[in-house]
Amino acid sequence: MTSNESIAELERDARAALGAIDSIENLDAWKVEFLGRKGRLTQVLRGLSSIADIEERRKAGAQANSVKAHLEQTYEAKLRERQQAYLSSVIEGEGLDVTLPARPLPRGRLHPVTQTLRDVLAAFASMGFQVAEGPEIEWDRYNFEALRIPADHPARDMWDTLWIDYEKDGSRSMLLRTHTSPNQVRIMEKTGPPIRVIVPGKCYRFEATDPTHEWMMTQVEGLAVDEGISLSDLKGTLAEFARRIFGRERQVAFRCDYFPFVEPGMELRIDCFICRGEGCRTCHHTGWIEILGAGMVHPEILTNVGYDSERYTGFAFGMGIERIALLRHGVEDIRLFYANDLRFLRQF
Ligand code: PHE
Repeated sequence: MTSNESIAELERDARAALGAIDSIENLDAWKVEFLGRKGRLTQVLRGLSSIADIEERRKAGAQANSVKAHLEQTYEAKLRERQQAYLSSVIEGEGLDVTLPARPLPRGRLHPVTQTLRDVLAAFASMGFQVAEGPEIEWDRYNFEALRIPADHPARDMWDTLWIDYEKDGSRSMLLRTHTSPNQVRIMEKTGPPIRVIVPGKCYRFEATDPTHEWMMTQVEGLAVDEGISLSDLKGTLAEFARRIFGRERQVAFRCDYFPFVEPGMELRIDCFICRGEGCRTCHHTGWIEILGAGMVHPEILTNVGYDSERYTGFAFGMGIERIALLRHGVEDIRLFYANDLRFLRQF
């Protein structure tokens, strides 16, 4: 028997066997027998080296390789056909159990700061405030100048600034906003009174982090401008807000503070809900916790945006949401909020 005949014989056998196969398991066995590493085709290929005549050996080699390629192709086609047949039989034979419970998907949750932000916005929304937004990259003009904080004014020290583009002559002065207050001016420039808006947004400060400071934080700014708005409106609005977030029984107090864009300026404090006024670490043993900065919009700012400051008055306030979330949940270090440690975040 020459090698040529045995190649032809092998091809015949292989094709006959393949034709009779009706399952994927048998198909595997066929592959091992004919095309496997120790299979019949390999044997034949090895046997070629014993053909003495070079020309004949070359021809036999080419033939063997083409048989190999053909068998592989036929095998692939048969495999696809069997897989398709299997799938159809499963589907048609109602092999799908539609009553099987679905695999549970991991459920996400809102970040604690987002939760608090939403609660804060909802509190003001229910008092008639609308939500607006402004840019995180801001001009010096809005972040400082228009808020009565000129260059070289000592009040600039209150907001350590991350500059993006800075020229001493003021020609180019872009920064990451240090607070949401620039939106007071942006909004008043765009619309006339009456105004009742809250503006949430990220703010940035160039400062070292510690348990109560982060270089990025979320603020909510509030602004109300209308005829006849007085300090008592400010007090009533903020007292209602504080009680919604920290509990109906909260006592509130206002204390003088300074911000160049309000007059008078003040801070809102609530009685310490941890020690109930006894004095503890959270309230620095004062019995009171500082919540936000506020005040009556400075008349000069109203005039600068073209409002008649004899006719219109307004109040503004600004708060850090991380600080509020921290107090609400008794978190001791603000940096935990953005450390992305799921063990921490999953608690909320
Ligand atoms: N923008 C001030 C701050 O970041 C807070 C503030 C807002 C104070 C509005 C008064 C009025 O500290």
